[in-house]
Parts: sequence; structure tokens; C-alpha cells
Amino acid sequence: MFTNKEIENIRREFPFLKLKPNGKNIVYFDNGATTQKPREILENIQNFYETENGNPHRGAHYLAMKSTEVYENARQKVADFVGAKKASEIVFLRNATEALNLIAYSYGLNNLSEGDEIVISIMEHHSNLVPWQQVARKTGAKLKYLYIDEDKQIPFSEIEEKVTEKTKILSITGASNVVGTNPDIEKIVKYVRENSRAKIILDGAQLVPHRKVNVSELDVDFLAFSGHKMYSALGIGVLYGKEDILNEMEPFLTGGDMIEYVYEDHTTFLNAPQRFEAGTANVEGAVNLAAAIDFVNKYGMERIDEYERYLTDYCYEKLIKLEYLEVYTTSNKNRAPVISFNFKEAHPHDVASILDTYGIAIRSGHHCAQPLHRFLGSNFSCRASFAIYNTVEEIDYFVDHLEDVRRILGIES
Ligand SMILES: Cc1ncc(COP(=O)(O)O)c(C=O)c1O
Repeated sequence: MFTNKEIENIRREFPFLKLKPNGKNIVYFDNGATTQKPREILENIQNFYETENGNPHRGAHYLAMKSTEVYENARQKVADFVGAKKASEIVFLRNATEALNLIAYSYGLNNLSEGDEIVISIMEHHSNLVPWQQVARKTGAKLKYLYIDEDKQIPFSEIEEKVTEKTKILSITGASNVVGTNPDIEKIVKYVRENSRAKIILDGAQLVPHRKVNVSELDVDFLAFSGHKMYSALGIGVLYGKEDILNEMEPFLTGGDMIEYVYEDHTTFLNAPQRFEAGTANVEGAVNLAAAIDFVNKYGMERIDEYERYLTDYCYEKLIKLEYLEVYTTSNKNRAPVISFNFKEAHPHDVASILDTYGIAIRSGHHCAQPLHRFLGSNFSCRASFAIYNTVEEIDYFVDHLEDVRRILGIES
């Protein structure tokens, strides 16, 4: 667990904390959407452009080779971070959404047909839902949902019922961005392997930034995540895929940097990862993601996880006691650092706008999870989500101002 002194020091590394929106100290609780960046990550961008900028994999001059070197070093760092066996299993893309689409289009469209089934959970973010709807629509495969119980957990009977030998894809979130649920991926993978030949995809967008993930130990076929939810710059994301599967997949985008030989009438393609990295790569993003990995490793994922769970438990226990709120986050303490809730008598946008006048940033809306919200009986919610620089004092400040929301909106006690 971090000491107060350590948290103070961590907070000093984040320039955004000097902001004073509406004249108030900023309390940033929208980390599930994107995290703020520490000074070393910001400086890393400038350093890259001052000393390492070139077009990788092309050219024999110093900067072309330098950018290739830092790009490939970043790939190795990501591979080590997620426990991939080889750096070539790491594909750099824009974000988790692009990674999930790549799997759906390159693998799904080419390997599924009528009679096949795709299994996802009702908790999925649209990025791990809409691409599978598209695959189902185009191939005739059937899309099935794993539903959750009252405590927002997937009953194992759902897996036993929905996963069959017809299942070709099981794509599931490692952590819900709304209800915080962390499905038991190990147990699910074991069952899926024993009862189907499905490819298993883990949406790690809300998992990888908060917990140690090891793809080899979990034995998932694919993992997707975004750097920007883990202190790195926007525009860089990762697809992990098992080497043999990646190399059998059709390229998603074609063009420069991914070909072996191009003839007038046909082309042969490089193996992964280049196979899926058409065009000039986002070297700055990859290098920046590597710096973000150094940043979290400096503190240790276990300690980050422990601290964020402490914040989440603290906030959850406070909110659950307020009878004018409905809290959607699971009560299970094995959960992601997100607390979703609604005022029984106020619209989330009103709540978020009023909190903003106190410098508090929460998310309001459907959080790209409309089917889940409908399942929960609401169209939208408020969400507070935490990161390493948040504190219990900020949570106290936030909870205190929930009363102001009621007062300003004229909600009777
Ligand atoms: C669970 C989950 N999956 C996928 C995504 C998509 O991430 P990105 O927008 O970075 O592609 C998000 C973003 O909030 C998410 O929460």
C-alpha cells in the first residue's frame, strides 16, 4: 500500500493537478475514459521528436535506424509487460477498439459462417460488441450473450449454457467499465478450452492499466488494450495475438511496410506484427507506451492495484449508504476501480455539470455500454473511476458535494 508521502510524491509528477477549473482544485475521476499523464511521459514525447524521430523499417541512416530500434524495443517491453512469449505477438494499433475490430474483421469474417456462434457478455463496451454484431450479420453466425446476476457477476451456469461446440469466438471484458466486474477469466478459459474450439479474446482496456495480466498464463488467444488509459499518450493501442493465429490471419489494412513482395497482379505479406501495421507506424506512441510501462512498473502493478482497490472500497462504502442513490457497481471486492451510480431523482448530466462547478470530473452517459444500461434498467449513469493519483480526501470532497447536487436541484430530503 502506498503511504501518504508516496501519494503526495506521485501527485507532484502530474502537472494537470495544478489546474483550477472554476477556481477549484481539480478532482479527476474520469480515469476510465482516459488517464492524465505524468511529467516523464510528457517529456518522453519531446525527447522522441528531438532525438529519435525517423520512419522505422525504412532507410539506412541514423534516425531511421534509431526509430526502428526504439519502436522494436517498445514492442519487447509491451510483450514482457503482458507476458507474451515473443515480441512479434504484439501489434501496435491506435487503441483497443482498433484491435478488437481487427480480430473481428480479419479473423471473424474469414473463419465464421452460418451455424457458428459468438459468445460475448452483456457487460461489453460497444467496441467489443458492435464488431461482433457486424460479423454475425455478415457471416450468418449467431451472437449470444452471457447475462449477469443481481450482483453483476456472470453465473457460471451462463457459461455452461452458452458455450458449446458451435462457439467459435468467446470475447469478454476483463473488467467492466460500468459495473466493475472482473469475470473469472482463468475459469472461463478452462471451460471454453474443454468444451469448444473457440478463439478466446480478452478486452483488457479496463484491466491492463490496473492489474498484472499474463496472457501466457491466462492462455487467451488475443488481448486488446489502449495506452491512454494507462498514463500514456492518446493514439496508441495494442493487440496481442498468439503467433500461429496471427500469421494465418488475413491482413486488415494493406499498403506500405506490411508487404514482402508486390507484383503487378498480387502481393505476398510479411508475418505478424508487420502484417498488421500498414503505413508509417506511430513510433512516438509506442515509445510513449513503453515509458508508461516504466512508470507503472516503478510503483509495481500489485501496489497500484492494492491502492486503487482501497480507494474503490472506500468510495463504494460511502455511496452505498446514501439512500438517494442507486449504485450499479458490483459489491464483490474483486472489482475494477469504477463506481457507477444514479441519483434516483436527477439526470446524470445534471449531476456531472453541478459537480464540475466544484472542480470534480466524473463521467455521465451510457459509457459506450447501452445494452448493459438497458439490462440494468437505466439509459445512463454517473461514473467515478480512479487512478494512482487519486486520494481518499478527494473522495470525501466528492461525496460531500453530492449533497450540493441535491440542494441545487431542489431534491427534498
Ligand atoms: C471495457 C472497454 N473496452 C474497450 C474500450 C475502448 O477503448 P478505446 O476507446 O481506447 O479504444 C473501452 C473504453 O472505454 C472500455 O472501457
